[in-house]
Amino acid sequence: MKRNVRSLLEELRQVEVERQALLQETARATKNPKRETFDFSEMDSYCEVKIARSTGKSLSIESPFFRKVEDVHGTKVKINGLWVENFASYDYLGLNQSDAIAAAVVSGLEKWGVSATASRLVGGNRTYHQELERLIADFLHLDDAVVMVSGHATNVATINTLVDQEDLVLVDSMAHNSIYEGIKSAHTKHISFPHNDFAWVDRKLSELRTSFRHVLIVIEGLYSMHGDVPEVKKFIDVKKKHGAWLMIDEAHSIGVVGDTGRGICEEQAVEHSEVEVIMGTLSKSLCSCGGFIAGSAALVDLLRYRAPGFVYSVGMSAPDAYAAIASLTTLVAEPERVSRLRQRSAYFRDRAVDAGLDCGDSAGFAVAPVMIGDSIKAVVVSNRMLEAGFNVLPIISPGVPNRLACLRFFITSEHTIEVIDTVVKTLARAIDDYELLDAKRIESTQLQ
Ligand SMILES: Cc1ncc(COP(=O)(O)O)c(C=O)c1O
Repeated sequence: MKRNVRSLLEELRQVEVERQALLQETARATKNPKRETFDFSEMDSYCEVKIARSTGKSLSIESPFFRKVEDVHGTKVKINGLWVENFASYDYLGLNQSDAIAAAVVSGLEKWGVSATASRLVGGNRTYHQELERLIADFLHLDDAVVMVSGHATNVATINTLVDQEDLVLVDSMAHNSIYEGIKSAHTKHISFPHNDFAWVDRKLSELRTSFRHVLIVIEGLYSMHGDVPEVKKFIDVKKKHGAWLMIDEAHSIGVVGDTGRGICEEQAVEHSEVEVIMGTLSKSLCSCGGFIAGSAALVDLLRYRAPGFVYSVGMSAPDAYAAIASLTTLVAEPERVSRLRQRSAYFRDRAVDAGLDCGDSAGFAVAPVMIGDSIKAVVVSNRMLEAGFNVLPIISPGVPNRLACLRFFITSEHTIEVIDTVVKTLARAIDDYELLDAKRIESTQLQ
């Protein structure tokens, strides 16, 4: 941190030279058809990982990723022997260590064992599968729901089942990787549209709609990177006008958005049944592992018989299903958790704005980014925050363009007002310190 800008530039130049050499070496090696062995360390994608790592090392910046977490207690985690407030957890409603949920999981384990032991097609629908699916469908006022063992795989399997080469998917440019992987696996034509721009989708469909059999529009209920939300009514108007389907990924919005946590449809006073496909995960507010699709009886029946990640994958285990059932039951029985989460999240955003921090377009829900605008700065500030007692991770290039680098806070219903006040103050100071040091570096370079 004490080096001046000239030496920093020299180091970056050196990193670039090494990067080019490594890429050339890999290209030479992989083009040789006579080689008998090929080491994974020569793969382009792995070279990129190594380069990113060595860039951090040569700038003496510790990687904030894969931090060693040794223990957890409430909103705190122990990292490298130090207890810190955790802002990197999806446990939005603070249920992860609840005694009632742990007891439910133990009872499921004792009755059914650890594994579902087979796919449901073969091994049968266990009663807890049906109970969980009915709970989810009722919660969202929809006909039916199906659960799968991973949220990511739920998106892949569902999109793969619904569309193929004759169809078109219009997908928000900020949508999650699992949605894009689903599109890739379906070999369907797709167009990524400017973030939240329903008017763009409308224009595009006016041009293209008749060339395709089915059109699927995919958006998220609460965007996981920048914490903003779509205008669902507008997307519904567009999909109705063009005879398209709408799919909403509610991974981060269930339990978080809407007065009683029923997601973006509740928030914006839209009937869930106006949306063809509602997707959600069990790994966030519902404190388990897995994903679900809720919708019409026909949609769910189709997925049960055709979705590859369901048909050809093991059924959900009892401990996971019991955790999700207990969490959803608690969510419904204790709506004050959702209210508290909404209040704490809005409080974080208000305090951050008061402190002069840039919260981007975030809507004041639990996904709460603070824009930093530069990847190296975001990593350095994240490391400073850890030293100061707060675990918050940066989102950096290539995950987002460098100018959109940010620190992403996940607020939970259990973060206290005092902790939020302190973390905001600490962050504002860490950013100021970084900028002060940067200004000094520039000054010292100009003097040389
Ligand atoms: C928007 C979105 N969809 C799907 C997923 C995948 O869910 P899971 O982590 O439960 O597999 C995530 C994961 O964070 C997500 O953010």
